[in-house]
Amino acid sequence: MSSFDQPIDRRHSDSIKWSKYAGRDVLPLWVADMDFAAPSAVIETLHRRIEHGVFGYGGPWPSLTESVLTHLESEYDWRIEAEWIVWLPGLVSGLNIACRAVDGAVLTATPIYPPFLSAPHFSGRKLNRAELACTDDGWRFDQAALLAALTPDTDLFLLCHPHNPVGRCWSRDELLELAALAEANDLIVCSDEIHCGLILDADKRHIPFASLSPAAAKRSITLMAPSKTFNIPGLGCAFAVIPDASLRHRFEHAMHGIVPHVNVLGLAACEAAYRDSGDWHRELIAYLRANRDLVIATVNREKGAKMKSVEATYLAWIDVRQLGQAKPAAHFEAHGLGLSDGADFGAPGWLRLNFGCPRSTLEEALKRFSTACRAA
Ligand SMILES: Cc1ncc(COP(=O)(O)O)c(C=O)c1O
Repeated sequence: MSSFDQPIDRRHSDSIKWSKYAGRDVLPLWVADMDFAAPSAVIETLHRRIEHGVFGYGGPWPSLTESVLTHLESEYDWRIEAEWIVWLPGLVSGLNIACRAVDGAVLTATPIYPPFLSAPHFSGRKLNRAELACTDDGWRFDQAALLAALTPDTDLFLLCHPHNPVGRCWSRDELLELAALAEANDLIVCSDEIHCGLILDADKRHIPFASLSPAAAKRSITLMAPSKTFNIPGLGCAFAVIPDASLRHRFEHAMHGIVPHVNVLGLAACEAAYRDSGDWHRELIAYLRANRDLVIATVNREKGAKMKSVEATYLAWIDVRQLGQAKPAAHFEAHGLGLSDGADFGAPGWLRLNFGCPRSTLEEALKRFSTACRAA
């Protein structure tokens, strides 16, 4: 038995995921956190930090920065300088700051994690959208659609890599095409790589957009965090990597007076996650892979539901348009399953299912999924 098999009761806790359906028999497989405890190295580090007893304003320290540099080099072959790092309390803040750090319009590809759609609006920037193509071989960027959506005033491309919700781990060739598009149209690329530690396919590797070439690095803002991979998003610790000094200063300028210091517990957890949690991470990936396989087999067996493979993330993106439900999320909720509504991602008729949970929870959820499909 894996330690990930052990259900942990999150009902009546501070969990947003579980409190949404408090008092109802609805399994919450929506918001993107996992129902697993953090790695023991993280928990022990937090205990030690709490024992210290003083929680004044804090900032990063040398061994923390070193853990980030070493992690990025060993995992992704990406060498960065310490001064390129800008610490943030979260990636959504980073997306909004990136929009405020540029003058012109913003381009992104849908379906997409909802804050990509709201950040330009909150920042007073126009949003141009291009749809991804769903091909027989899986999800792809549609270069023609991107070019059609690109207005002359576009300054920023918001890239989700790996992609939430379609689960693609973009390949070097695909990234090079995007880099060429950015170069030809003088775009900054803000690459949200929060899911980069969750590559499920053994033959795929995460390639940071900024690591493609010095030219790509120069126009890049990379957003990363240990939060998704090590299941510590509630600790609020993330960072941007911005190699170009002038772009970095624009980004920092847009943060002034709005973005607070990073929580000291989040910083401590980050170091323990990156430096001391490799075994936990390997076990997690094997566990998620098996969960993913179960989800794909079940979904694609149901008439009216279908999905492509999930190369990365613990999120399944499911097409239920054939079920003919006007409000599919409500229909599944009525059958005891709380999923994310595709409409929020720019794709009505689709649902997102979070399979970062113990197998027993997932099996029950999939039973409910099948019942809901057959009842439609
Ligand atoms: C692509 C992506 N970016 C950002 C976030 C959230 O980041 P944070 O909680 O650090 O603001 C998520 C969470 O699901 C995500 O999937």
